[in-house]
Amino acid sequence: MPKAKPQDVARFHAEYDTQKDHRLRLFGAIAKLLEPASVLYPGSYVDIAPSVFFDEVRYVDSDKRAPRFFEQPALSELIADKRTQLQRPMGGRVSFESRDYRTVLSIPDQSVALLISLYAGFVSEHCTRYLAPGGHLLVNDSHGDASMASLDAEMRLVGVVLEDGLEYRVSTEELEAYLVPKRGPGPSRESLHREGRGPNYTRKPFAYLFQLV
Ligand SMILES: C[S@@+](CC[C@H](N)C(=O)[O-])C[C@H]1O[C@@H](n2cnc3c(N)ncnc32)[C@H](O)[C@@H]1O
Repeated sequence: MPKAKPQDVARFHAEYDTQKDHRLRLFGAIAKLLEPASVLYPGSYVDIAPSVFFDEVRYVDSDKRAPRFFEQPALSELIADKRTQLQRPMGGRVSFESRDYRTVLSIPDQSVALLISLYAGFVSEHCTRYLAPGGHLLVNDSHGDASMASLDAEMRLVGVVLEDGLEYRVSTEELEAYLVPKRGPGPSRESLHREGRGPNYTRKPFAYLFQLV
C-alpha cells in the first residue's frame, strides 16, 4: 500500500486557529496561575495550545480528522515553534485518544490536575472523575457546561477568565457576582440537558475556573 502523504500540520492548525493565537493567549493567562502536572482536554479537536504551556497533555476527540493531525511527527515541531515564539522551555508529552469522552477513557480516575471543557458539551459531567482532588476545571458556558459544574457540590468557583482587549486575565474577585441568572431560577441538570445551554447570567466572563474540593 502506498504510504499516506504527511499532513501540513501548521496549515491544518491555522485553518482551525482563525482568531490567530487566541488560545495561546488564553492558556498563557491560565499558566500564570496554575502549573498542572497533567492536563486532560476532552473535545479538544486540534487545539494544541495547552501543550505550549503544560508538559503532559492528553487530548480526546471523536472527530474523524483529529487522529491524523495528532499522529503527524511534525506536530512536535509546530508545538516547539510556538514554545520558541513565547520563549517557553522545550519539552512536554502529547497524547491523543480518539474516543467519545462519554465512554470510559484509558486514564485512571483522579489522575489529572487540570480538566479543560471548551465548546464541547457536558465534559465536566463525564470527565470530572479523572480530576484529582484539588485539581482545576477550566470551563466555558457555551454549551452550559460551566452551569453544569456549578451544580456539583464538590466544585468551588475559584476564578473567572475575563477578556481584556486581546488579552485574557484570571480574576478571583467578586466571584459571588458570577453565575447569577438575570431572571428566573438557576439551572438544573434537566434544564441544561434540555436546552444545551445555561441561563442568561448578569456577568458573562469568557470562562470559569473551578476547583475540585
Ligand atoms: C466546537 S469544537 C471545540 C474544539 C475546542 N475545544 C476549541 O475550543 O476550539 C467541539 C469538539 O468537541 C468534540 N466533541 C463533542 N462531543 C464529543 C464527545 N462526546 N466525545 C468526544 N469529542 C466530542 C467534537 O468532535 C469537536 O471536535
